[in-house]
Amino acid sequence: MTTKDITTTIQVLQYDELTDIEKKLIDAAREATHRSYAPYSRFCVGASIALDNGEIVPGSNQENAAFPSSLCAERTAAYYAHATYPASKFAEIAIAARGTDGNEVAEPIPPCGACRQALLEYEKLAGHDVPVLLAGRDEIYRLPSVKSLMPLSFTEF
Ligand code: THU
Repeated sequence: MTTKDITTTIQVLQYDELTDIEKKLIDAAREATHRSYAPYSRFCVGASIALDNGEIVPGSNQENAAFPSSLCAERTAAYYAHATYPASKFAEIAIAARGTDGNEVAEPIPPCGACRQALLEYEKLAGHDVPVLLAGRDEIYRLPSVKSLMPLSFTEF
């Protein structure tokens, strides 16, 4: 038997350590939480995607009385970004969230598995790593790529 190890290095940063573009990206994700439609969970998630054309595309979770019809913030942003600018590549992604008390979560929240799968495809289309920023009240995580969040992944058949 042999073994394979999977390791991911997460950089833990304060807001003022981010690049100017990353600050804008985090600001956009935090703002987007205020446009969530989350009457059922009352958990408001915002995502923002920086494209290589300079656009920052935000999205927020949109819930539905038929729960499975809801969509997470990350896929709302990603699908809108690619539907609007199909020729542009993803450059970086940011995610923020406010809990049921209305305040930003203390610990960053990572994207769900379905969103990781969707984002991975856009990273593949970009042809390079797409860093992911996860914003919390006290610190921000910077992951090197979507793949680092989902190392054993299904991307082709
Ligand atoms: N949610 C997201 O928008 N992104 C995630 O990655 C995890 C969860 C949303 C879905 C639902 O509207 C609410 O958060 C509670 O699960």
